[in-house]
Amino acid sequence: METKNKLIIRALNGEKLSTPPVWMMRQAGRYLPEYKATRSLAGDFLSLCYNPELATEVTLQPIRKYGFDAAILFADILLIPQALGAKLWFVTGEGPRLSTITDQNDFDLLGDIENIDQVLSPIYETVRKLSSVLPDETTLIGFAGAPWTVATYMIAGRGTPNQKPALDLIKTNPEVFDLLINKITHATVHYLSKQIDAGAEVVKIFDSWAGSLKGELFERYCIEPSKIISDELRKIHPNIKIIGFPRGATNNGYLNYAQSTAVDCVAIDSSVDTQWAANELQKVTCVQGNLDQKLLVSGGQTLINETKRIVKALSNGPHIFNLGHGITPDADPSNVTKMIEAIRN
Ligand code: CP3
Repeated sequence: METKNKLIIRALNGEKLSTPPVWMMRQAGRYLPEYKATRSLAGDFLSLCYNPELATEVTLQPIRKYGFDAAILFADILLIPQALGAKLWFVTGEGPRLSTITDQNDFDLLGDIENIDQVLSPIYETVRKLSSVLPDETTLIGFAGAPWTVATYMIAGRGTPNQKPALDLIKTNPEVFDLLINKITHATVHYLSKQIDAGAEVVKIFDSWAGSLKGELFERYCIEPSKIISDELRKIHPNIKIIGFPRGATNNGYLNYAQSTAVDCVAIDSSVDTQWAANELQKVTCVQGNLDQKLLVSGGQTLINETKRIVKALSNGPHIFNLGHGITPDADPSNVTKMIEAIRN
């Protein structure tokens, strides 16, 4: 099928569809027994990310099982820091650890953007493989972390509840902070552009920690870098579709982001009032979201009612059904089937 006729792309082009297309953040993941099996074949999570054959397999698993309208490349937002020379490892049950960047000296140790493909080329190979084997109607989504979110991990060396180490660096060493944001921004343009060359039809920019940036900082470190990335990508790939996810932005933050970055779609978290999104945000852009991912754990009639409420609330404009954040490892796979039935029937 031509890209422009795929349901996700039609929604991204602003079309209102009678049934919204659907996919889920973290749809390839630990709630699926088949994912866990393939991951143990690979050895560990990072080996899985850099193994094109197995990464293709885990990307396809949720497509085979549920028939989602989009497949998202299996990789991680922390591969860019690793490709820039940061040390990266995952501690089971805890999450990522990285070497930290706290001063000019640490920054100077990072490698050149021109060299990131030495590490990232297996990821482009996965995209190429996916692009040749995906079902005809399925859209292929590539992704990267937004510069602020990636920087929070690079500065602290791990996930942090309130992003304090990164917020502190803005105050104590703004020069180094700006150098880091710029470097990640331009590495991300390169990385996403290569994913598009390899066959990604849409790219998503994950700003998972956008909510910790307030006021002017939100403009400067969430909106501005995402705008640079989308402007630069469109210079190289004029038809590329871009989804932005400034998670945790307040209503006005989401609206400002949509207007200022001119991405094709804004993904919203579950705390956003869906009716507000229908009245305000959907006038400006396609909206993606925003079922509470916890409902895929608890299931029952609430899952069905909430799914239907969101479909209805956003039915007067372009909508891609998704969760407010990634599906969690304790979700029941059969609840995903029930959610999809509630959307499509
Ligand atoms: O969505 C998908 O299915 C595609 C693959 C994908 C992963 N991570 C795989 C993954 C995507 C799009 C991401 C994005 C990502 N990674 C984000 C942004 C989105 C979000 O969730 O806010 C962030 C912040 C990361 C960084 C990251 N990766 C963390 C903090 C963790 C540890 C927490 C956790 O869930 O375990 C990861 C690990 C990770 N990334 C896993 C997967 C499937 C689990 C690893 C495992 O198999 O043990």
